[in-house]
Amino acid sequence: MTNLGWVMLRSYVVMLAGFHNQGGRNQQKLVFYLSSFGVICPLLWTIVSFSGVLGMTAAADPVKLMKQEVGKAAAALVKSGSIVGLGTGSTTAYTIQFLGDRLKSGELKDIIGIPTSFQSEVLAKQYGVPLATLDAIDHIDIAIDGADEVDPQKNLIKGGGAAHTREKVVDYLAEQFIVVVDSGKLVDRLGSTFAVPVEVIPMAITPVTNAIKKLGGKPELRMGVKKAGPVITDQGNFVLDVRFDSIEDPAGLEKTLNNIPGVLENGIFVNCVDLVLIGEVKDGQPLVRQL
Ligand code: 5RP
Repeated sequence: MTNLGWVMLRSYVVMLAGFHNQGGRNQQKLVFYLSSFGVICPLLWTIVSFSGVLGMTAAADPVKLMKQEVGKAAAALVKSGSIVGLGTGSTTAYTIQFLGDRLKSGELKDIIGIPTSFQSEVLAKQYGVPLATLDAIDHIDIAIDGADEVDPQKNLIKGGGAAHTREKVVDYLAEQFIVVVDSGKLVDRLGSTFAVPVEVIPMAITPVTNAIKKLGGKPELRMGVKKAGPVITDQGNFVLDVRFDSIEDPAGLEKTLNNIPGVLENGIFVNCVDLVLIGEVKDGQPLVRQL
């Protein structure tokens, strides 16, 4: 129940106790108890039911609130007639939802979405964002995508959703690439909190694992959740999550990893971001700042 609900319930109990302790006839008390129940129960029910609609539940989860605000802010930057790269993850899910809302209201017209994963494809269909493939278009105006880490130079680690290969294709093609993150994703140096995802074709998993260990990385095969065995990417490959003690040269490491035979793509994104939108919560209020 929301805070407002609890406060009302508590005040009601205190009031009843006060009334009960006063003198007076039992019959009068009974009439009061019954009639006050008739008022308080529907009122509490209404508060509980509408708390989600009013955004009170989201307020209890600041990360969700940050993602929602920043996702919406990015969707607001999309202009009618644009071809839009649709990123993957929980933050861009809000962007796709708000793009759908803008299309429905008529405020936004004639956009085409290029999905970066099955997830963004499914969401775009759900929210009514028209889609095309890369074969059908000759440019992308804007791509909006999430990230797992962002450093001060706007380099990224991506691939928390195992979609970094398609994301890199779409995001790098875009004339403007906007990253949407909550403030918890900002780091001084890449690799501080997140391992580097590396997509590997299944038959090469052992030699690639050994080659990465020789580079000083600690690879771990990503396992499925609610799926037995390893995560399988949208291309049918495995993902190694590789921890490095320190990533001093992100551009160099990106190339070195991709040069290992059997590696399809890794999640280091260098020198490609135009704008980072960062969601924050200050004094309970969400706000969006830029990097
Ligand atoms: C998927 C990604 C996501 O963009 C990244 O993991 C951020 O996700 P979220 O918005 O859920 O925090 O790279 O491969």
